[in-house]
Amino acid sequence: MPDSEISTIQTRILNILTNLDLQSELERSGKLKISHEDSMLAITNDTGKFLNFLLSIINCNRVLEIGTSVGYSTLWMALTLLQNHESLANLKKSILTIENNPSKIKRARKNFEEAGVTDMVEIVEGNALDILTQLPEKMKHDKFWGNKLFDFVFLDADKENLVRYFDLAMAVMRKGGLIVTDNILLPENYRPAMLKYIDHVRKNKYVRSVTVPIGYGEEVSLKLN
Ligand SMILES: C[S@@+](CC[C@H](N)C(=O)[O-])C[C@H]1O[C@@H](n2cnc3c(N)ncnc32)[C@H](O)[C@@H]1O
Repeated sequence: MPDSEISTIQTRILNILTNLDLQSELERSGKLKISHEDSMLAITNDTGKFLNFLLSIINCNRVLEIGTSVGYSTLWMALTLLQNHESLANLKKSILTIENNPSKIKRARKNFEEAGVTDMVEIVEGNALDILTQLPEKMKHDKFWGNKLFDFVFLDADKENLVRYFDLAMAVMRKGGLIVTDNILLPENYRPAMLKYIDHVRKNKYVRSVTVPIGYGEEVSLKLN
């Protein structure tokens, strides 16, 4: 049975997700006039549920996310970790999420504080490529970054560096772990970068990968044993 603190946090997360769903809807419909820079650009609600399902089936303990925005996808993943663990003590710094936009980081922090997951989620501010490049070394020597491999990686930042993000993520993920990449099918203007990405992933003999037509299209890539 989850302790009462865990169920309170789950309820708070679900409330915040509901509010963010409404905001996303306003953004997508164009009813809310907002610059691209300030937009949430969040995954869809059904993609959130899909991530929740995938994290459960691999018995996920540790997540790496590239592209936090205001924390919508992060909260979906935090929810699964809470559903699958009986004690908050085991979940400290279980999600490491990278974002380079300071105003979005501020909004994400507020959402994580309201949900009560600040101990679980570590936001790393900066350029994803730099941070991922340094990650293996930091994980070896630095207690803050932890020395446990990740079970799940979610790639949802810029698309130009996606192939490099994939290779760097493979180096810090356990066998049997998953890398999920958003925007494989939509928007249309990402298609050339995404086709290059799919080609790269599927040529890797240590990976089995499939496109799932949910939300904007998710590439789900399994690191083989
Ligand atoms: C599509 S949004 C992420 C949405 C989020 N995963 C969600 O579903 O709620 C992409 C985010 O990646 C960030 N980003 C883009 N390029 C980046 C980079 N090179 N390093 C770090 N963050 C980056 C953007 O500022 C933006 O907030």
